[in-house]
Amino acid sequence: MARRKPLVVVTRKLPDIVETRMRELFDARLNVDDVPMDAAQLAEAVRVADVLVPTVTDRIDSALLSHAGENLRLIASFSNGIDHIDVASALNRGITVTNTPAVLTEDTADLTMALILAVPRRLTEGAQVLGGGEEEWSGWSPTWMLGRRIWGKRLGIIGMGRIGQAVARRARAFGLQIHYHNRRPLPHAIEEALEATYWESLDQMLARMDIVSVNCPHTPATYHLLSARRLKLLKRDAYVVNTARGEVIDENALIRMLEAGEIAGAGLDVFEHEPAVSPKLVRLAKQGKVVLLPHMGSATLEGRIDMGEKVIVNIKTFMDGHRPPDRVLP
Ligand code: DGY
Repeated sequence: MARRKPLVVVTRKLPDIVETRMRELFDARLNVDDVPMDAAQLAEAVRVADVLVPTVTDRIDSALLSHAGENLRLIASFSNGIDHIDVASALNRGITVTNTPAVLTEDTADLTMALILAVPRRLTEGAQVLGGGEEEWSGWSPTWMLGRRIWGKRLGIIGMGRIGQAVARRARAFGLQIHYHNRRPLPHAIEEALEATYWESLDQMLARMDIVSVNCPHTPATYHLLSARRLKLLKRDAYVVNTARGEVIDENALIRMLEAGEIAGAGLDVFEHEPAVSPKLVRLAKQGKVVLLPHMGSATLEGRIDMGEKVIVNIKTFMDGHRPPDRVLP
């Protein structure tokens, strides 16, 4: 007798090619209208599904998991980050969790590098001048629209995993000196290849950097890692870039420092209370002090298709009775 196809509930619209493949392989319940599920819909999804495919916009906490039906055995997240999932609670219930690491490294590093360039070189302000902004361009001037030089400056990367290293590779090509803080130093050969300097003390590194890039995951240990106290250690002409998770920075403290001119600027792709973005940040963006992007680090068609393929492989492997390649460990 043919085996029943697993009921796979996907919470958001995925690229067409991924959805087509999912329809072929699984009893797939897709969200083609891409309306985020509310709590009741998510509860119903975990009650009926064999596999749930959430994204970073779904909160998979223990309250939600208390609705899980006995068939729910796998949460195959369409994401690299897993801070939207209470992994311990899932594992306690015997539910395996997988994510989609590695495939969005280069895209996220590209966007990080774009912000590292955009903020000191005032790219969005410049683009506004010719792109319908209020200011009129009266021509070139020796003292107009001056940003800060990138070449030769010190970049401090917080979190030297895959994405941090990919940022370092790009940044070296722009003449930045690479510094990093990580739980552990990199193996010597990698450190040497990146010409990167390890700082065991985050505080000491922060005090010396021209640009700081946040590339670590959000965990209980990294929540507000850039606290008000640490942000105060930064030089007045330093820039902060964050493409990881908003929660790693105390956003209110960052805003206060930007408003007071205690740091030079920030490039943010992620926010503490997404999708809400503080009106104060929006005001700072209008003043040219920050560049804000709507969480688009991995937003390339190729990246999202690769993520979908990873989700499919994880589900198939799990359903075939094997350990899925991207199993999240406790
Ligand atoms: C992730 O997957 O963690 C990104 O933040 C969204 O693509």
